[in-house]
Amino acid sequence: MDKLKIAVVTNNIDQQIEIKNLLKDDDIVIVGFLNYDNMTSLKLLGNNPDVIIFVRDGKEDSLFVVAADIYAKSVGVGMLVMADDINLELLTRAMECGIRQVVGTGSDAAKLKEAIFKSHNIESQRVGDRETHSLQRKVISYFGGKGGTGKTTVSVNTAVALANAGKKTVILDLDLQFGDVPILLDIEPKDTIYTIVEEKTAITIDSVKSVLAFHRSGLGVLAAPRSPEFAEYVDEKTVETIINVLKPYYEYIIIDLPPGFNDTTIAAIENSDIVNLVSAVDISSLRNAKLCMNILEALRQSDKATLILNRMVDGIVSKKDFEQILDLNVALVLPDDTKTVLTGLNKGVPFVGGNVKNPIVSVMNEYVRSLITE
Ligand SMILES: Nc1ncnc2c1ncn2[C@@H]1O[C@H](COP(=O)(O)OP(=O)(O)O)[C@@H](O)[C@H]1O
Ligand SMILES: [Mg+2]
Repeated sequence: MDKLKIAVVTNNIDQQIEIKNLLKDDDIVIVGFLNYDNMTSLKLLGNNPDVIIFVRDGKEDSLFVVAADIYAKSVGVGMLVMADDINLELLTRAMECGIRQVVGTGSDAAKLKEAIFKSHNIESQRVGDRETHSLQRKVISYFGGKGGTGKTTVSVNTAVALANAGKKTVILDLDLQFGDVPILLDIEPKDTIYTIVEEKTAITIDSVKSVLAFHRSGLGVLAAPRSPEFAEYVDEKTVETIINVLKPYYEYIIIDLPPGFNDTTIAAIENSDIVNLVSAVDISSLRNAKLCMNILEALRQSDKATLILNRMVDGIVSKKDFEQILDLNVALVLPDDTKTVLTGLNKGVPFVGGNVKNPIVSVMNEYVRSLITE
């Protein structure tokens, strides 16, 4: 049997020595000792270990951040935590980011090895369970400073087209107060994101999957709370966790956002690979888009931004003005076509599946193809 490859993450040199001594074993080889810093998860992925031992040196949170990142980006890497103080909070947080075992700092060699092999075995099963091994993952969000610019229209049509193309896709309606994704899809979800919060248990792939509704295209839908007053119970941590829990299982996570910025919107943006600023084409929208870009820059998120111009009409401001003033690539320009958009809406059938001779349909399809082949 090949030796099991172990990576150890700790800032404490004594711990490194202790673990090295405990793991002098024929079945195990330590492939790296790492510190906690902003390169840890990248280095860990490079080391390609079978199991990672995270030592909790104190109360800092970096271990959970690194573990969640590893869990989202890889399959088959078992993770365990070694900690002084094993309490419910630690166990819950460990579970949330895919850590399989928790052991005390003073554990002997037998106990540590047992935990190593257990986390390896459990994680190996996930490889088998997982339907979407090594798929590309893209978290794509649609936002803007104004309401009514077409964020929901574009995100829903994109998500349905991806699902129709056979891609494993989920749409998160993070317009938490006034989300209307289910209306556009003509579905009535039994549960919403609020169900996850209300249950007060750890957020896992199973708990998230159990509250998804499904559109006939195969698209999974996480609906917004049924009524605006429940929105405040969904915080940025919940949003971040849901996105990262879903990542290993979906090729595309499409996120529809409300107008403007708040904590949950920012969490969604920070956890997205592509952030689309959706705007109408007039002077006031241009000014508004510029303000949004300033905020994205302040949040250091502007590099992943692209622009979507909706309801394009010939007027005083042009696509070029937007490109130059915002310094953004235009990913999509949709014509104004109330008839097609509304007919789709009234039937609960997103227009993207309609006649491709229709410009709005063909442009939308071309955009989705560009996402797939990118
Ligand atoms: N390209 C378009 N042509 C015509 N009507 C559109 C277009 N895009 C969106 N609409 C309409 O504009 C309104 C607002 O769109 P919506 O997607 O709900 O915006 P947001 O989510 O940004 O608030 C809806 O009534 C929608 O049907
Ligand atoms: Mg909307």
